[in-house]
Amino acid sequence: MNFASDNIVGASAPVLQAIMQANAGTMAAYGNDEISKRIRVRFNEIFEREVSVFFVTTGTAANALALSSAVPPYGLCVCHREAHVIDDECGAPEFFMHGAKLAGLPGVGAKLKAEDVEVYLKSLPKAVKQMPPKALSISQVSEGGLVYGLDELAALGAVCREHGLSFHMDGARFVNALVSLGCTPAEMTWKRGVDILSFGATKNGGLMAEAVVVFKPALAEALDYRSKRAGQIISKGRLVAAQFEGYFADDHWLDNARHANRMAALLSEGLRQLPGVRLAWPTEANEVFPIIPKTLDQALKAAGILYHPWTDLSLPETERIADHEVLIRLVTSWASRAR
Ligand SMILES: Cc1ncc(COP(=O)(O)O)c(C=O)c1O
Repeated sequence: MNFASDNIVGASAPVLQAIMQANAGTMAAYGNDEISKRIRVRFNEIFEREVSVFFVTTGTAANALALSSAVPPYGLCVCHREAHVIDDECGAPEFFMHGAKLAGLPGVGAKLKAEDVEVYLKSLPKAVKQMPPKALSISQVSEGGLVYGLDELAALGAVCREHGLSFHMDGARFVNALVSLGCTPAEMTWKRGVDILSFGATKNGGLMAEAVVVFKPALAEALDYRSKRAGQIISKGRLVAAQFEGYFADDHWLDNARHANRMAALLSEGLRQLPGVRLAWPTEANEVFPIIPKTLDQALKAAGILYHPWTDLSLPETERIADHEVLIRLVTSWASRAR
């Protein structure tokens, strides 16, 4: 059993079939094909408004390009201190922002609170020697597996508006959050003030399919050029767009995420029955964060079960890990099976 992440499984059958179907014949390259055009329209329908869509092959590319269009080289991007953009992308966002910095704030379960962001922004001196804050980036689902509620998103959106920041959402697990909240894509994004979104599909059945979705038109102006300079204008773009065709057809994306979340709930419920096991915080999407005895950790590893130990940096104040315990992360996916 492998709970290391949701990218340890391959692509789903409908996605692969869509690629096979798109494979035949000749079509225009570099995203000028019929499938890419169709999928751009589909994104408009999904988000209930006109959006600009830029297909990329990795979540890191999506984040780096999105942030580079929102933050000038002298600017600051606020995020959680465990955010993927600050911790797991080898400096790609800063590289593409050409000198801008990421400022990591604390928060339980890797989530940011609007009031904490507000306090931080107000604490920054308004002097020319201080990099001005230009964007806020959050991960929906958070790196702690938690989902921002619609009110929390609205509060963060309001802080961004008040302080003139662009609001970026890293949606590597966008749809896991979406089905957890039971809302629409529009309600979880631009209706709450999100300006630019890294829309992930790879973790939920795609082969390599991510997209930058832009709601604030000014942020899309130079994204074509930025994408090209990043090597992300994909020559056989139709095969990336086709993945989204298979992904969106018949609610496949929603079904996959509902399944992954259900598997996490099941896992979470089972773990809670075990003596000495408790959850660091609730299971809200497809990731489970239990604190388990080291003896159990050893037994699970001996049984060949794969997962990652996790940082205790974002535990609630009331929680602490004893010497005989360890915090781990277990991730379920669209392909997880209940035994
Ligand atoms: C929160 C988050 N953002 C972005 C990514 C995408 O990263 P990658 O460049 O590996 O596709 C991941 C993948 O682990 C992630 O967990």
